[in-house]
Amino acid sequence: MEIGIIGSGHIGGTLTRRLSSLGHDVAVTNSRGPQSLTDLAAESGARAGTLEEVVQGAEVVVVAIPLKAVPQLPAALFDGKLVVDANNYYPQRDGDVAELLDRSLSSSRWTADHLKGARVVKAFNNIQAAHLMDQGKPAGTAGRIALPVAGDDADAKQVVMGLVDELGFDAVDAGTLDESWRQQPDTPVYGTDRDADGVREGLAAARP
Ligand SMILES: NC(=O)c1ccc[n+]([C@@H]2O[C@H](COP(=O)([O-])OP(=O)(O)OC[C@H]3O[C@@H](n4cnc5c(N)ncnc54)[C@H](OP(=O)(O)O)[C@@H]3O)[C@@H](O)[C@H]2O)c1
Repeated sequence: MEIGIIGSGHIGGTLTRRLSSLGHDVAVTNSRGPQSLTDLAAESGARAGTLEEVVQGAEVVVVAIPLKAVPQLPAALFDGKLVVDANNYYPQRDGDVAELLDRSLSSSRWTADHLKGARVVKAFNNIQAAHLMDQGKPAGTAGRIALPVAGDDADAKQVVMGLVDELGFDAVDAGTLDESWRQQPDTPVYGTDRDADGVREGLAAARP
């Protein structure tokens, strides 16, 4: 699958390495430009490109950047794209965003509102990058870590759930984008590496 990754840090860099190693055609971009990605490209086999190059050809685009940078992304570029939102809102890093501070809106809904026309799916936001890198296990392994996947487009969600499984994690359907607050920071499933039953219980137990 052609996968574009925006952000080459902890999460973007990890997904670049892992998805490339699985045989996907991965292209990656960051804020400093392709020349800063020479080492990551050489190590992973992924292509480094500009934002436009990385998004245009991609079937799936992962956004793994500080949430405050999302409004800088040109929405038209993402029209019709399947976008995986791996971001979290941290006020101390991202500044005050009124709708997110009072939690009246999930951060993925806020992102989808910016990327109008994109099919946004929330995934990979609740696992530490280091565990995403090395804790994947074959399907059926007892205690396999599960990741919640939320979104409004059922087909898009299935594609992302398939990638989660390929990466070595059980995928749990976490409902719609508006329900994705259940996997945000400070919820039972955030950073806790639960198995599939544990994720389902944690999503149900989350309180606004
Ligand atoms: N760290 C984790 O374990 C973890 C786990 C789950 C979710 N997350 C979430 O994932 C997101 C990324 O976190 P991270 O830890 O990977 O951050 P990070 O290591 O600081 O990396 C951020 C990346 O975003 C790039 N970037 C910033 N603004 C950009 C823009 N306008 N266009 C393109 N690229 C841009 C940066 O580019 P440069 O390299 O050029 O600076 C950098 O590569 C955050 O929302 C975070 O909350 C993190």
